[in-house]
Amino acid sequence: MSEEICFLNKDTLVIKTPKKSPLILRMVVLLFAMVCGVYICLICLKQIKPHTKAKFLSIKVIEHQNSCPFSGHDLYMHYPQPQTFTREECGCNPVRYFAILSMQRSGSGWFETLLNNHTNVSSNGEIFSVKERRINISSILKTMDKVYNLDWFTSASKNECSAAVGFKWMLNQGLMEHHEEIVEYFKKKGVSAIFLFRRNLLRRMISVLANSYDKDAKLLNGTHKSHVHSPLEAQILANYKPKINATLMIKELNKANETTTRALEYFKSTRHIVVYYEDVINNRTKLKDVQEFLRLPYRELKSRQVRIHTAPLWEQVQNWADVKDGLNGTSFETFLH
Ligand SMILES: *[C@@H]1O[C@H](CO)[C@@H](O)[C@H](O)[C@H]1NC(C)=O
Ligand SMILES: *[C@@H]1O[C@H](CO)[C@@H](O)[C@H](O)[C@H]1NC(C)=O
Ligand SMILES: *[C@@H]1O[C@H](CO)[C@@H](O)[C@H](O)[C@H]1NC(C)=O
Ligand SMILES: *[C@@H]1O[C@H](CO)[C@@H](O)[C@H](O)[C@H]1NC(C)=O
Ligand SMILES: *[C@@H]1O[C@H](CO)[C@@H](O)[C@H](O)[C@H]1NC(C)=O
Ligand SMILES: *[C@@H]1O[C@H](CO)[C@@H](O)[C@H](O)[C@H]1NC(C)=O
Ligand SMILES: *[C@@H]1O[C@H](CO)[C@@H](O)[C@H](O)[C@H]1NC(C)=O
Ligand SMILES: *[C@@H]1O[C@H](CO)[C@@H](O)[C@H](O)[C@H]1NC(C)=O
Repeated sequence: MSEEICFLNKDTLVIKTPKKSPLILRMVVLLFAMVCGVYICLICLKQIKPHTKAKFLSIKVIEHQNSCPFSGHDLYMHYPQPQTFTREECGCNPVRYFAILSMQRSGSGWFETLLNNHTNVSSNGEIFSVKERRINISSILKTMDKVYNLDWFTSASKNECSAAVGFKWMLNQGLMEHHEEIVEYFKKKGVSAIFLFRRNLLRRMISVLANSYDKDAKLLNGTHKSHVHSPLEAQILANYKPKINATLMIKELNKANETTTRALEYFKSTRHIVVYYEDVINNRTKLKDVQEFLRLPYRELKSRQVRIHTAPLWEQVQNWADVKDGLNGTSFETFLH
């Protein structure tokens, strides 16, 4: 009888109730109604609860079918099951997914070596510098799936005991072009974005020009290097002083500024942090914010890379007077100092 009552509404029951002992029957009906009510409430709560925390949790639950103890609902915690190896004793350590979104010559190479100095971070480099991998969105998503499932191998991969896995992605490597699908992927998969930008876009421009020159000139014993590990190498590269086309300069600076602004706009709905190269240079403790963002155990991080351009800005270009005049009175004037 209890089952019947649960699925009938109260009015129907009252009509069917015999008139012999109305009080007892009414009490019974009331009791069942209460039990049913509580039961329905519990089911509802169970369904609603995770959704308030994370919209896309349902997808995560499917992946979460291994034998790890239940670790709460968190869209940003993952338990990948790589196809190429087993995670051994770290199988139940949660893994965070991240992507360093940056532009060329903004210190991202150095920043990545710092992150990779953490025992539990695998940042796999600029994987989308290879055109084939970003030829279309399905190729991009397939590549990311492989990275985040820990099946991507580079010298930076820590495999079993990675607590954070990711890679470095330049804005002009398909990221802006396919931003809608990528934002959707980041939100669905729980990928956190680390924006790494350079405040002084003039310094960045000088670095771009110098690096581009070295591609052909190969100043270091006939090899082109974008990053160096000794003061001597840094000095050799810094000896080259580019000449800046003052006419193009403002246009280029505006373009770079617009691109970063647009990237932040596109990705504002994903979990992200914005880091400036200059801030990390001036205060290494900034890396603590990044480690907290990735919920990593705190480590002191070191890189063997050496900065190339350390001289005052006016010594780094051939035509400083043109540059100074060109920027005087513009919104980029502060870059001169
Ligand atoms: C971090 O850097 C230090 C100093 O260069 C080095 O001794 C250590 O092995 C590095 N750790 C990792 C995990 O790369
Ligand atoms: C994407 O590119 C890959 C590799 O070139 C190709 O095999 C695949 O068919 C392409 N997919 C779409 C949807 O164009
Ligand atoms: C970090 O890696 C070490 C082994 O190198 C492992 O013992 C530890 O559990 C890892 N920590 C996290 C948070 O995954
Ligand atoms: C270039 O090669 C010479 C001879 O092998 C070596 O002594 C010198 O240190 C090298 N210079 C750099 C910048 O690597
Ligand atoms: C600067 O660039 C513009 C456009 O490419 C070019 O017309 C001009 O000749 C360049 N000026 C110098 C000084 O190289
Ligand atoms: C360095 O960065 C840390 C972390 O963001 C911050 O707490 C600290 O105040 C900064 N120190 C200075 C001197 O700015
Ligand atoms: C900037 O331009 C103004 C006049 O337009 C001039 O008085 C000033 O000295 C210039 N500043 C610099 C740093 O060249
Ligand atoms: C960069 O672009 C933003 C948005 O368009 C603008 O508000 C800002 O003033 C620009 N920065 C500079 C230095 O021009």
